[in-house]
Amino acid sequence: MTRASLVRQITDFANRANPYPLYAELRRTPVLHEEEGDPYVISSYWDIESLLHDPRISSDASNLAEPGADELGENTGLPPSFIRLDPPEHDRLRRIANSAFGPPHKPRRVDDMRPELHEIVGELIDGFGDAREIDLVDQFAYPFPVTVICRLLGVPREDEPRFRAWVDPIVAGLDPDTRQSDPEFVKNVQEARTQLGMYLAGLVEQRSKEPGDDMLSDLAAGKGPDGSMTVMEILSTAVLLLIAGHETTVNLITNGMLTLLRHPEYLHRLREDPDLAANIVEELLRYEPPVQLVPQRTCITDIEVRGVTIPAGSRIWLMLAAGNRDPERFKDPDRFDPDRSDLQHLGFGSGIHSCFGAPLARLETQIALAELARRLVEPRLVEDPPPYRPNAVLRGPRHLPVAFEGVRP
Ligand code: HEM
Repeated sequence: MTRASLVRQITDFANRANPYPLYAELRRTPVLHEEEGDPYVISSYWDIESLLHDPRISSDASNLAEPGADELGENTGLPPSFIRLDPPEHDRLRRIANSAFGPPHKPRRVDDMRPELHEIVGELIDGFGDAREIDLVDQFAYPFPVTVICRLLGVPREDEPRFRAWVDPIVAGLDPDTRQSDPEFVKNVQEARTQLGMYLAGLVEQRSKEPGDDMLSDLAAGKGPDGSMTVMEILSTAVLLLIAGHETTVNLITNGMLTLLRHPEYLHRLREDPDLAANIVEELLRYEPPVQLVPQRTCITDIEVRGVTIPAGSRIWLMLAAGNRDPERFKDPDRFDPDRSDLQHLGFGSGIHSCFGAPLARLETQIALAELARRLVEPRLVEDPPPYRPNAVLRGPRHLPVAFEGVRP
């Protein structure tokens, strides 16, 4: 492996099924910059952690000397959402969004969704019917998070199929391969975005007149200490929650089941003790994180990392998945070990942009994996490794065929 090719190898599909040997190679040059115009790639745990907290590092794409594609595919025609903003705008919008989502104003929002999450998971597993083999992605992991976001935002149940029909092409459009190649597909994605935007605008208007117990109603009412969001800001936030919370959760559930099927002793233990789900999910976020790297950072002044000067305006890639396997941080990092006592992973990022939806993502995945472990009789992998999606940032299998002997009630 020549050093000059390492950055290209991060996006090379050939490394998708097992990128970890490449990440080990990257960690040997903790600040890697190969050619003019390439990003500065940071791969060790402590450097990533420190840069995620550094106010000289910006998430605002307008600070980039050479703006590139937006890997989250968030090109919606709406104002930038808070994931792409710096303080003070980021903090204002995140605080308002949080006043409709978590403590101190809505401390029970996520926990109160627990019965609904069980219900959605139960219905999806019941839907396997008499089958003895399913695609866990299409039949379970993919439909689950979008239904959850609908309930969180307050999309009426009768509208969920319409909502999903718009979300499907938008989320499929996040894959770099599908994004630009087919003009018809690109047109459909654009159309879906417009339709979804119009639908959400109508819903916000309706919720401001007749509020329910949902996030959009709270955001539309907007009486918190930080003031309120404009309608456009509410729409950007809703689309952000949808996009940031969808494929990430699909991949955590799918990577999770794949890892458990490769380590059946933990699948067995989870069946016996569903409380183990909390540790399993944390270790998965370290061992197989759905967000492999954060490529949307730039430095606003020259900064020095390990003796290397990174010039202002440079693009920085923070390799979360490489940091999570850094032997200077974790003992025996390539071992899947949910019994670790120290699980301070980078799977949800860190610092001011750390994952807003983490409590929901954790609960969704804990319930999903515990229920799959409990209900599937003798599940096993059909294909290992399974086929992967092209995306190097949001990494996960495109399909995960799983065979089993039956479904317990
Ligand atoms: C397993 C599932 C998930 C993973 C692995 C994940 C991971 C991440 C990561 C790594 C970041 C940091 C990005 C950065 O620093 O630029 C992030 C931010 C974010 N996530 Fe998640 N996420 C997940 C699920 C969710 C869900 C379910 C939601 C919404 C309900 C959500 C909403 C957000 C938002 C709004 C941000 C931006 C936070 C900010 O800029 O302040 N995420 N997520």
